[in-house]
Amino acid sequence: MIDSEPIYILAIESSCDDTSAAILCNDKVLSNVVATQKIHEEYGGVVPELASRAHQQNIVPVVHRALTRANIDKKQLSAIAFTRGPGLMGSLLVGTSFSKSLALGLNIPLIEVNHMQAHILAHFINEENAEIPQFPFLAMTISGGHTQIVLVKDYFNMEILGETLDDAVGEAFDKSAKLLGLPYPGGPLVDKYAQLGDPRKFKFPKPKVDGLNFSFSGLKTSILYFIQKEVKNNPNFITENLNDICASIQFTIVEILIGKLKKAAKQTGIKTIAIGGGVSANSGIRRALKSSEKDYGWNTFIPKFEYCTDNAAMIGIVGYLKYKDGVFAEPSILAKARYSI
Ligand code: KG4
Ligand code: ZN
Repeated sequence: MIDSEPIYILAIESSCDDTSAAILCNDKVLSNVVATQKIHEEYGGVVPELASRAHQQNIVPVVHRALTRANIDKKQLSAIAFTRGPGLMGSLLVGTSFSKSLALGLNIPLIEVNHMQAHILAHFINEENAEIPQFPFLAMTISGGHTQIVLVKDYFNMEILGETLDDAVGEAFDKSAKLLGLPYPGGPLVDKYAQLGDPRKFKFPKPKVDGLNFSFSGLKTSILYFIQKEVKNNPNFITENLNDICASIQFTIVEILIGKLKKAAKQTGIKTIAIGGGVSANSGIRRALKSSEKDYGWNTFIPKFEYCTDNAAMIGIVGYLKYKDGVFAEPSILAKARYSI
């Protein structure tokens, strides 16, 4: 490969309920288009069948918009990178099939990407004035489907040190929000109301899970019982206390996450800490992580908002890293709903 020749990657993400396409020139993002599917709001969660249909509808216009915004013609593309998994099979199939066909049509290589690796490697997107983490570092991936602490030794050498035994942290946010009558996805709304509330007003028990694993299903149940009890005494309890309830839930979740990170940092002796995934957009965890820099001497990395929730730019940076190493996928490659990093 000639170093000076720019590499243009078209990246496609369709693992859950966001259809996204991005264009990267080497490690820089030229465009990153995300179509969020509103249809799921009324169902209180992602309906897989509806997600696949919406991807089918969105994918061509989203790719077209990404190319237009980047001012790139598809004939200039060097390769196509796509999310192979993990995710919802019907959703993954849309992005996978589209990418395979377009790569075949354009006669360019195809690159498969693990969505969870991409949440971590999003930190290597070249942004002005942004530092990138040095290996080895600890990454905590916090999303609607996953909660993991990962030891990142190199770009593609990662080891899971701990993960959730039941619900993901994003689910804990979304299910708590649902109990409060908030629409899906409730995480960002809990965050919004939490900013106006008292985080110490209500106490919720923290799970006792050994090592670096997590558990969030008990928290959800204790919030359910708490709300049932309070609403029995005062039917307006939720509306009268929404900000304080959200602040208290968020405070508990952030304490659980930071507690495990402290344990992981102590166990490994690593103080370079990165977060990724939708929940890293949460203002509470962002604040807590920043203050841990002076509290514990950590060097922390928090993605830009648009690279926290699902997006194709993070798929594109993995595509670029694999392209440089000549790691391409076979045209017969299949999507993988369960796909460990
Ligand atoms: O990474 P992501 O977009 O999709 C998955 O791969 O799951 O993460 C989505 C999750 C949802 O559970 C959503 O409620 C949560 O991220 N989320 C938040 C915030 N923004 C997104 N949770 C708490 N606070 C936020 N600000
Ligand atoms: Zn994700």
